[in-house]
Amino acid sequence: MAVISLSLQLEFALLLLELAYDNATSDVLSVIPLWQEMDYYKEYQEKLRGYLGKEKANGILLEALYLISMGTNDFLENYYIFPSRSKQYSVEEYRDFLLGIAKDFITELYQLGGRKIAISGLPPMGCLPLERTTKIFSGTDCVEKYNSVALDFNGKLQEMIKRLNKELPGIRLVLANPYDILLDIIQNPLKYGFVDAAKACCGTGMFEMSYLCNKRSPFTCPDASKYVFWDSFHPTEKTNWIIADHLVKTSLAEFL
Ligand SMILES: *[C@@H]1O[C@H](CO)[C@@H](O)[C@H](O)[C@H]1NC(C)=O
Repeated sequence: MAVISLSLQLEFALLLLELAYDNATSDVLSVIPLWQEMDYYKEYQEKLRGYLGKEKANGILLEALYLISMGTNDFLENYYIFPSRSKQYSVEEYRDFLLGIAKDFITELYQLGGRKIAISGLPPMGCLPLERTTKIFSGTDCVEKYNSVALDFNGKLQEMIKRLNKELPGIRLVLANPYDILLDIIQNPLKYGFVDAAKACCGTGMFEMSYLCNKRSPFTCPDASKYVFWDSFHPTEKTNWIIADHLVKTSLAEFL
């Protein structure tokens, strides 16, 4: 998804940026690279100034809430699948490469007038059904290696957030961390009203995702709200709702 702006009438903008930090990941997935999302965002700013006049538009941009969510694809759909980045970088070096992109991106948003920015940490990505399936012969537990990469990334991201809050006057940058709440849902699905966290609703629940999931996918479960994951990579609407509710009450609370 590129840049979404909601309800100009309310004089409030919510901008959501997601997909991938690394250009190479965007290439693999054939999605809009981050630098282009930024170009589109600059275009959007110009359009907004055209509609509302400079002063009013700048006020809205200053008050807007920016939600940034990226990183899982960089590790799971790029680094751990294709050799080019993993030959070039150790996993720690790749982490630092992504964090450098995040820092530049946030700094540019700030220079463009963004002040309220939430950046999401990585989820327990070793627990995505697709990753569990890949180790089916050694049991279908979460892949601990991927979870510790996520935890390590989130720790470094938090340090970077602290530094940027000091360096960029007036910025309010927070970590919107889905890790703990999603892990709790996955480890205690019944507590949240789910029946299955290891397999997804769509298809066999083990590998299908995105365009492989549609009305005609055989075996798809009749009630997605009983499942933590919709497809092998993406949570169901109900899971997303629980995570969003949690974040709105915690890290995003100061903005709302
Ligand atoms: C991604 O690609 C753009 C456009 O080619 C380039 O300007 C930018 O430096 C690249 N980013 C990284 C981190 O390599």
